[in-house]
Amino acid sequence: MRVCDLIRRKRDGGTLTAEEIRYLIEGYTDGSIPDYQMSALTMAIYFRGMTAQETAALTFAMADSGEQMALPNVGGVFVDKHSTGGVGDKTTLIVAPIVAACGGKVAKLSGRGLGHTGGTTDKLSAIPGFRIDLTPDEIAKAVGECGLCVTGSTGELAPADKKLYALRDVTATVDSIPLIAASIMSKKIAAGAKNIVLDVKTGSGAFMKRSADAKALARAMVSIGTHRGLRVTAMITNMDAPLGYAIGNTLEVIEAVQTLRGIGPADLTELCLKLSAQMLRMCSGGSREECFRMASNALYNGLAYERFLEMVRAQGGSTDVLNNTALFRKSCCYRTIEAPADGYIRRMDAEKCGIAAMQLGAGRQKKEDSIDYAAGIVLDVKPGSAVCAGDRIATLYAEREELFDDALATLSDAFEIADSAPKPIPMVIDTVSNVQ
Ligand code: URA
Repeated sequence: MRVCDLIRRKRDGGTLTAEEIRYLIEGYTDGSIPDYQMSALTMAIYFRGMTAQETAALTFAMADSGEQMALPNVGGVFVDKHSTGGVGDKTTLIVAPIVAACGGKVAKLSGRGLGHTGGTTDKLSAIPGFRIDLTPDEIAKAVGECGLCVTGSTGELAPADKKLYALRDVTATVDSIPLIAASIMSKKIAAGAKNIVLDVKTGSGAFMKRSADAKALARAMVSIGTHRGLRVTAMITNMDAPLGYAIGNTLEVIEAVQTLRGIGPADLTELCLKLSAQMLRMCSGGSREECFRMASNALYNGLAYERFLEMVRAQGGSTDVLNNTALFRKSCCYRTIEAPADGYIRRMDAEKCGIAAMQLGAGRQKKEDSIDYAAGIVLDVKPGSAVCAGDRIATLYAEREELFDDALATLSDAFEIADSAPKPIPMVIDTVSNVQ
């Protein structure tokens, strides 16, 4: 097989067989196919797309490129969840305990944040002592004890994706639907997931800015699941504004705790209950209404919060800071932003909010950067909020005064004030599923 012939065929709009795709992925993973050939191929895929069969073959070859994890042998129905990435997205911290409190099992491998989007393992690492490096045996023990665990990846899952993602990042080929779908699903398959709820974000803070693209991505991922015999539901959800009011690791843990105590922001609570209900449908086969009721009961009767505390204890974290969030370390400096005029918040660019939080030290611009768990932003408003000139609309927290210059400029630019309120966007815009 000549790599150049395969690239040419894709470039000219032809299709590749599963065997050819596997040859390319294996060769790229073991180093026999160089970056320059793979970048030509990803660019050809970017322009020509892939058929559903090609996308599935790419995903399976990537999933098989490294270790395969087996779900712990503790009984019960396991269900996984994955978000395509957003700003202020702390849903895993709330959804996993809700599902576990209702009898589902969650053994979730999460990632770190990079760029303007946050990562679940960074948020959990803001809890003193919390371990995100559990071994497979420790995962099994934690899930056996409390029905859930959320940890970082163990071993080398889907190394082809790691290599390919780094290449796409520097060759302007990240935002290709088949490449994103294969990247996400290969990691889920390698992690042993059989039942998966995907939160496909759309809007200013998402990879997919347009909901039509988010729907195409959702369809591509569900189709991969169908080819593999997995049950997949993809919910297309609104990421045009940050989720909740808090952005930044400790601040988001505090907001997650408030939500688990039943006093969280309306948008975050709604999304968490809807995601949990979909996950519970996969575990129990109940109707959407029954599962939503189960999830709400677990949230409002305190059982989900209890599960969260159990998970934190099982993973070595301190529950003192959760029961009394005033004990979390605070940033020493803060600044506020005020509304420049009377009116309504017409737009809050979520990506700019995420970038401002990163500039304050809450996220990494490069993989090796360290982060400040206490840094971030607390918003006072949502799109549609009425404001008067001089009203505080956001507070920024950082460890050093000089971090405010860029962050204040970025965040101020994220808000648009107008004479009328915008049309509300529903939290769940659409759902694509292969589950009856
Ligand atoms: N998240 C991933 O894991 N991969 C992508 O390609 C995009 C988002």
